[in-house]
Order: sequence, then structure tokens, then C-alpha cells
Amino acid sequence: MIKAPNIILVGPMGAGKTTIGRLLSQSLGREFYDSDRIIEENAGADIPWIFEKEGEDGFRKRETHALECMLHNQESVVLATGGGIVMREENRELLIKSDALVVYLYASVSQQLHRTSKSNHRPLLQTSDPRATLTALFKVRDPLYREVATLVVETDSRHPKSVANKALEAI
Ligand code: S3P
Repeated sequence: MIKAPNIILVGPMGAGKTTIGRLLSQSLGREFYDSDRIIEENAGADIPWIFEKEGEDGFRKRETHALECMLHNQESVVLATGGGIVMREENRELLIKSDALVVYLYASVSQQLHRTSKSNHRPLLQTSDPRATLTALFKVRDPLYREVATLVVETDSRHPKSVANKALEAI
């Protein structure tokens, strides 16, 4: 049987990857996975603990492993990835070489800040100036998201259902 392409969502913290991923999985009747949750399950610990004990590098290695596992999955899935998935060249190559529909959910720094302001489980945002951190990350990562993406969907002005529909149109 020919496997339908996986759908992989990339984009910054606060882009809505989990929300959109769930909507897409419901519409398509596919399983939804989130690389952060896979990492936590495999580690038996949460992300702040992993960052504290293994550093960001340890977390990134786990992230690559989770991505590889999902790409080898027999089923077609919807996968939401962590905002830093594009930082390792290895991951970018995996994404580009895969036949997945890679959707970059674009969000402005103001929206990222707004949408992440109520949670405190993101180690990279535990700084005195989250806006400056998000701005610096965005400068580096925006071109990398574009490098791996098949499709870019702007999320600032759209309702999550409309964002999901844009991705569905591309399937
Ligand atoms: C990270 C984003 C987080 C999580 C980790 C690191 C990043 O995922 O993977 O805290 O480097 O941008 P979300 O994008 O789902 O918040």
C-alpha cells in the first residue's frame, strides 16, 4: 500500500503547532504526535529536567532521535515539532529528504510572546527579556524554517481552523 505523506509542522514557540496538529489529525483521521511529548515519554522526565541535566545539546540529540523514529513510522501521521527542530543540520536534511508535507506556521514575535506568556515550561524563555530572546531566535530560525518548508502559513491573523484548512488544501 502506498503511504500518504506525513504532515510535519514546524515554527517558533507559540506558533500553534499543537493546536493545528490536533485539528489536522481530526480532519484526516490520523494519529497526532508531538516531538516534545515523545522526548518526555522516552526520557521519563519533562523538558525543563532534560535541559537542566543534559543541557540543550542533550535535548537536541533526543529531538533528532524522535524525528527519525517518526519518519520511519509505518503509518502516515501528523507531527508537531519543537521550535528548535531546525537548529541541527541533520534534522533539516531529514525534513528536506522526507516526502512529508512540511508546514511552517509563521507567527510574528509579538504573537509568539503573547501565546507563550502564560506558560513557564519552556527553558529557553526563562529569561528576564523573553521578547529579546524570541526576536534573536526568530532571526536565526525563520530562514531555516523556510529552507525545510513545503508550505508557509501565516497564523497571526487567522483562526486555527483557517490555518488548518490552508494546510489541508495543500494535501
Ligand atoms: C524549543 C521549543 C519547545 C521545546 C523546547 C525548545 C525551542 O517546543 O522543544 O522547549 O528551542 O524553540 P515548542 O515550540 O512546542 O514550544
